[in-house]
This record gives sequence, C-alpha cells and structure tokens, in this order.
Amino acid sequence: MSINIAIDGPAGAGKSTIARRAAARLGFIYVDTGALYRTVALFCTRRGLKAEEEIGAALPEAEISLRFADGVQHVILNGEDVSELIRTPEISMAASTIAAIGTVRAYLFDLQQQIAKTENILMDGRDIGTVVLPQADLKIFLTADAEERARRRHKELAEKPDCPSYEAILADIIQRDEQDRTRAVAPLKQAEDAVLVDTTRLSLDESVEAVLDLCKERLGL
Ligand code: DC
Repeated sequence: MSINIAIDGPAGAGKSTIARRAAARLGFIYVDTGALYRTVALFCTRRGLKAEEEIGAALPEAEISLRFADGVQHVILNGEDVSELIRTPEISMAASTIAAIGTVRAYLFDLQQQIAKTENILMDGRDIGTVVLPQADLKIFLTADAEERARRRHKELAEKPDCPSYEAILADIIQRDEQDRTRAVAPLKQAEDAVLVDTTRLSLDESVEAVLDLCKERLGL
C-alpha cells in the first residue's frame, strides 16, 4: 500500500514550495494538482473556449499526463511539455475559473487518484483531503494571511521588469480565494480531520519542518 499525504490550502500559502521540499526529504513523489487545472485552462484559452458546455465537449481532446524527472513534475498536454507555459497570471486566474466546472473536476479526478494508488505521494491542491483522497494517511491544511501571501508573492516577483504592485497582487489573491472557496463543486475548505498549519509567522524552513514533524508524529516517517 502506498502512503498518501494531502496538503490543501489557498493560493500563495507556499504549499508547492513547502510540499516539494518535504516530499524530497521523505523520498515521496510531489504531485502539484494545480498544474492540471492550469493545463486545462491553457487548453481552453488556446481554443477560445469559455462556455461550460463547449469546454465539456472539447475535454476528451485534451490528453493530459504527468511525468516525473528527478523529482520534478512535468505536465504534458497532447504530447507538449507545458510546465512553463502554465505559470502566467492570466492562466492562474483562468485556472481558478475553469476549476469551478464540474466536468473539468471529474475529468481530472481519475488521473489524480491513479497516481496516488501506486506511489508514495505528497499531493497538493484545494480538495485533496476532502474529495480526491478522503482516505489520505495524513491531511494538512496550509494557510497564511492574505496580506502575508501577497507580500511573499510581491517579493518573489520584485526582480521582474513587469512586477505588479503589492495592491494588485493582494486583490488577485483575494479574488482567487473567493472563487475557490465559494464554488459549488469541491470548494476549498479544511477537511474535518486535517491539521491546520498557519505559516504567517513561519519562515520557509520552519514551515517545511512543521510539515515533517507532523509526518513523523502521525505516520512515523
Ligand atoms: O495551486 P495553483 O495556484 O496552481 O492552482 C490553480 C487553480 O486551480 C486554483 O485557483 C484552484 C484550482 N485548483 C483546484 O480547484 N483544485 C485543486 N486540487 C488544485 C487547484
């Protein structure tokens, strides 16, 4: 039996960086499920698909798979590695929008479950502990204040020439939080049996240690 660890939480809480590092320390595969929603968003954007019905009808033409090379996840859309292309602010917002569509979630559900069945994984997303892996061995809900998340993102982007303002980043985070939390299907929420880790006052290293401490405490890893 493989061991499954679910990490959910809002955008910008540091989930992916923390989960990637913790997975590497545990020798687990890190699965970033947001990349799957981003890939569907890229597919829809390229085809100019907006309405739910047309997206649902076109989805079978989007063949999406994950590949892992040296612990790094690559997402493949119809044979093309789109791992870099899905990391734009436009795709972030589009992903949050298409993630509210039930057919999109159903389409990605099996893929996520299959990976978890065969491998020791640490999977991050919004509904992993509540919907995708309700039987996960450990569930963590990782969060931080919206202002702190915006500050971190702003710092990360500060070097870039077209860095958005702190206010624009904060507004973006608040809008995505709202969309992710209030959608009818699989909204972002803490599973009843998930452990809350608030990273507002933790450094990155401290956050990774908090996750690893839980893995040790709860799973003896
Ligand atoms: O984690 P991320 O920012 O890459 O995710 C992009 C969007 O995908 C996010 O706004 C919500 C959605 N998402 C989701 O609905 N369920 C998941 N398991 C992962 C991501």
